Amino acid sequence: MIFGKKDHLVGLDIGSSFIKVAEIKVTGKGHVLNKLGMSRIPPGSIVEGRIADMAAIADTIRLLFKTQKIREKNVAISTGGHSVVIKTINTIVKDEAQLHDTIYSEAEQYIPYDIDDVNIDYQVLGESDFSPDQMNVLLVAVKKDLVSEYIELIQLAGLNPKIIDVDTFALQNVYEILPYENREKTTLLIDVGASKTSLNILKANASLMMRDTMSGTNQIIEEVSSQFDISPDEAEQVVNGEINDVANQDAIGEISRQVAQSWCSEICEVVNTYQSGVNDEKVEKIILSGGGVFVEGFKDGLLSELEADVSIINPFECLLVNERKFPASYIEKVAAMAAISIGLALRRVDDK
Ligand SMILES: Nc1ncnc2c1ncn2[C@@H]1O[C@H](COP(=O)(O)OP(=O)(O)OP(=O)(O)O)[C@@H](O)[C@H]1O
Ligand SMILES: [Mg+2]
Repeated sequence: MIFGKKDHLVGLDIGSSFIKVAEIKVTGKGHVLNKLGMSRIPPGSIVEGRIADMAAIADTIRLLFKTQKIREKNVAISTGGHSVVIKTINTIVKDEAQLHDTIYSEAEQYIPYDIDDVNIDYQVLGESDFSPDQMNVLLVAVKKDLVSEYIELIQLAGLNPKIIDVDTFALQNVYEILPYENREKTTLLIDVGASKTSLNILKANASLMMRDTMSGTNQIIEEVSSQFDISPDEAEQVVNGEINDVANQDAIGEISRQVAQSWCSEICEVVNTYQSGVNDEKVEKIILSGGGVFVEGFKDGLLSELEADVSIINPFECLLVNERKFPASYIEKVAAMAAISIGLALRRVDDK
């Protein structure tokens, strides 16, 4: 009786262009994909991670739950962008109580916001590379007004927000249970969404560097919309291939390739800066997710500029998927965009 379990919840990834929802059943045979769906939200409803049109998004979420016949009300959501600050800090080894006090008294110097305006969380990553007397601590600060905004949204949609995660961590959560070999290789997870890109360099499942940038598929949509004088809505459908604009296909391809090239340069810069640091090793593996993976020239650009294996994430590899319910062609199409919602759906109510 899985749905009676008190720790059960649904993963809800509220992206700035697509809302994705996933529900996973835990059975004796393993984790089974039970529900999966996504829905576009009107452009401009979420701007820089902040909710601009609460009623419209709440309606979309409610409708998505209805069409997917999801009855569970407990959800895990995630946030990202400007209002979330993630830093790795270095401090001398302390016991738990001392560490707590140090984090709260020193956090201000790492966060560009007033300490009273943020919720702080942290996790000890391990011993510092520089000295055994020091430890690395992952510090996460999320603006309180952002958290209350998302709680209000979820409640307006008739749901209970049980976990508020960070996009990058939800993605890492999926990566950690996927059957990848050789986790000792330095690996870069990249999520290119509509309005932001998150980078996370990992080794043996521990994060070594995280960064968010403002790059995303909206750059292509905005350029197509302005060059061809069409609405952003129409431009998105043209870019995604939903409308076949044969006359302008070459020009659209060129815009996509140029934007993809700028993403590659930005990513190479981060990778090169990381690799030139003390003790830092070469990034050997890159795993892509988000709608950006579909953009012409992006994957190939990374392959030609970096000496690393580049692949697209398949979050369903860690799940049992009934092909009659979710045809392979559908699963393949949505894999890259669904990864964060799967990472959220794998959380349990009592997770931190
Ligand atoms: N086949 C395709 N070709 C080009 N772009 C595509 C394709 N399919 C989806 N996209 C684009 O990917 C974007 C959606 O990706 P994703 O769902 O990862 O973004 P998001 O999570 O909503 O955004 P963010 O995480 O930045 O808030 C949309 O802008 C969409 O137009
Ligand atoms: Mg996203």
